[in-house]
Amino acid sequence: MEEISSGESKVLRYLSENEADGYIAESGISIEGLDDRAVSSSVSWLESKKLVDCKRESVSKYTITDEARSYMESGFPEEKLVKLVGQGTSSIKDIMRKLGPAQGKIALAQIAKFGIKPSGGSITISNPSEILNEVANRRNGLATIEEGKIPEKKIMDHLRSRGNLVVEKKSQTRRVKINASGSELISHYSTADRIDNLTPEMLLSGSWKGKEFRKYDLNSRVSALEGGYFHPLTVLINRIREIFFDMGFTEMTGNYVEHALWNMDALFIPQDHPARELQDTFYLESDHEFRIQDPEIAERIKKVHEKGFGKYTGWRNKWDMKEAEKLLLRTHTTVSTARYLYEHNEPPVAVFSVERVFRHESVDWKHLAEFYQIEGSVYSPDANLSTLKWLLGEFYGKLGFDEVKLIPSYYPYTEPSMDVVVRVGNREVELGGSGIFRPEVEKILGLNGHAIAWGLGLERLAFLYYQMEDIRGIYNSDIDWLRNFRVNP
Ligand code: PHE
Repeated sequence: MEEISSGESKVLRYLSENEADGYIAESGISIEGLDDRAVSSSVSWLESKKLVDCKRESVSKYTITDEARSYMESGFPEEKLVKLVGQGTSSIKDIMRKLGPAQGKIALAQIAKFGIKPSGGSITISNPSEILNEVANRRNGLATIEEGKIPEKKIMDHLRSRGNLVVEKKSQTRRVKINASGSELISHYSTADRIDNLTPEMLLSGSWKGKEFRKYDLNSRVSALEGGYFHPLTVLINRIREIFFDMGFTEMTGNYVEHALWNMDALFIPQDHPARELQDTFYLESDHEFRIQDPEIAERIKKVHEKGFGKYTGWRNKWDMKEAEKLLLRTHTTVSTARYLYEHNEPPVAVFSVERVFRHESVDWKHLAEFYQIEGSVYSPDANLSTLKWLLGEFYGKLGFDEVKLIPSYYPYTEPSMDVVVRVGNREVELGGSGIFRPEVEKILGLNGHAIAWGLGLERLAFLYYQMEDIRGIYNSDIDWLRNFRVNP
């Protein structure tokens, strides 16, 4: 015999007692102690256990719009028009002016249905009471709909045909009928001594003793449970961190909000550089001033920017502390490298981070305004361009990308500068920038030797790694993709 819950037994009993020989509406079932949702879920269970039969019907519910309400209160456009004409306004131009173009147009279209057409730029209404009577019917029709009922067909059709007055909402209702198996089951069923749920109270009072318990149906099919797991991007980030840890790197972390000084000035980006403009960088507004606390770094930056040193001429422009004290959302994680090297200027240093940056960009299939960079630097007197090439080749190789190319590029803080390109199948994708820090940057940070550095896009790598079409897919939260993606071994 099918096991049923107490809710199901109540619904079944209700049906066996209340239904003569037809289906009854589920919404009409009222049982003490069961709310509508419990009734509905019991009906579904009973249906799946084949103890009741169901019929589904679609019903329409109508409501009226705000516009309809305003017609009811201050008049239908055709009503207003008839009244205006009654007061002597009959030129179309005046009517349009008084009613406004939108209502004027509706009014003219509506009275045309009563056979009234403008001629010579004005109109004559010979049957005002006919129109006003009909308007009264329409107004009553709207009131009827508002009460949840349906007016006479002719009026209903008219109101619906106007398009802007009545909204139809379709919904499904279910009608239920107990069937032979249901009747059979309920006729032997006793609820009195059955326990569905054992409660702490029952345990304390011992009232469970001697009662019959509802059996669990271990064969009933339940939907599979999806456990939680890491987002594909997190999986990749952790893989990348592992690779750098394996190569002996230290992880650094930084801040979303930075001074322009660390994000730009310390990297020898001139104060009039286009990347500093609002259209590229998100600046922060603040009622407080956040001053640079370190006079030493500011002093070095000012000197290098304005005058240079040795054979390096600097930018030869006036360096402004105000510009450097602006707060921004970091535009690259090279800001963290700059501060890290300033604070750890004893070689050898090997440092990396995988963190988020922000740029004022419009989003498309390969651009995001918020994205991660895989940043890193090696500071060691013997680090050079081959070290850089070897390191990047090693890194991408461990992720399964064997063809890595460096192509000459430009960044204000590195010389030479190299863009990093990975070849996958027959596509070449640019993944970021790299280079050797310029002497000016070394001077500012207090380095003395070679520091190589790179800043690589994570999402573009992810989209190659997971063979996706569009970079935005990573953040789309497509549940099927999230459940089914497979991590490369
Ligand atoms: N910061 C650069 C960018 O955001 C990348 C880069 C890092 C270039 C380090 C050179 C050295 O694109």
